[in-house]
Amino acid sequence: MADTINLRELLHFYVDCGVDDALTDEAVDRFAVAEPAKPPRIEAQPVAAAPAIDPQRAAAYAAVPASPARVQATVPDEGQSERARLMAREAASLAELRACLEQFDGCNLKFTAKNLVFGDGNDAADIMLVGEAPGRDEDIEGRPFVGKSGQLLDRMLAAIGLDRSSAYITNVIPWRPPGNRTPTPIETEICRPFIERQIELVKPKVLVALGGPSSKILLGTSEGIMRLRGSWREHKAASGDAIATMPLLHPAYLLRNPAHKKLAWRDLLEIKARLKLLTSAG
Ligand code: URA
Repeated sequence: MADTINLRELLHFYVDCGVDDALTDEAVDRFAVAEPAKPPRIEAQPVAAAPAIDPQRAAAYAAVPASPARVQATVPDEGQSERARLMAREAASLAELRACLEQFDGCNLKFTAKNLVFGDGNDAADIMLVGEAPGRDEDIEGRPFVGKSGQLLDRMLAAIGLDRSSAYITNVIPWRPPGNRTPTPIETEICRPFIERQIELVKPKVLVALGGPSSKILLGTSEGIMRLRGSWREHKAASGDAIATMPLLHPAYLLRNPAHKKLAWRDLLEIKARLKLLTSAG
């Protein structure tokens, strides 16, 4: 009995320290292994299978040089963002982009994540919301914003008459960083071509950047979220299109700082008005 209590307390202690994910019993020295072993997967709830890639495009992907990470260590290098660019621009649809991310092995985050977290909601929607990276719940379900901050995001959308049938939601980074750490600049650069292509394929009329990191990446700025939020900016797509973009306080931040919900409410009303204007203009 005493042992059970001790064990329970030990588990609580681990959770409080942020250890919420069992990967392997033994630490893996990834620099020492030539063929890095994937940690055993903990079975997650099933997610929709990625569609098959058109054979012509599969040939184009195969022509992209194999990742050096496969034969050396798992540390990505500059070459990986070039590979990502080549692969992402070949994707002619969201289904192909998803399939191409399933094949891409140039980002270490993929090897510790349980699932690819691609996108959720209506991909024909006028509004697209982009967060930073999936957390634990999203990693388990393979869907963005399903945890506590996702529940708040759903309530924020509902407050302006939207839900996942009228909005499309995704993240800059499609794999959960281990322990929810901040993605490194190189990981972000490697994932950037994929989110840029995803935005081009969804072609929203209005883009919402959730939180500082997403705003900085989508707007190419180093300004902080408190300066950015509240006014319209432009995301420049590779196609040359400029998309009206509103930086919005991240729901996870609002959960920690509820007094700032009033700022988010103001910005949500701006978004609602802009959407109405753009959709009535056709
Ligand atoms: N935070 C994010 O930025 N994205 C998610 O999907 C969940 C939490």
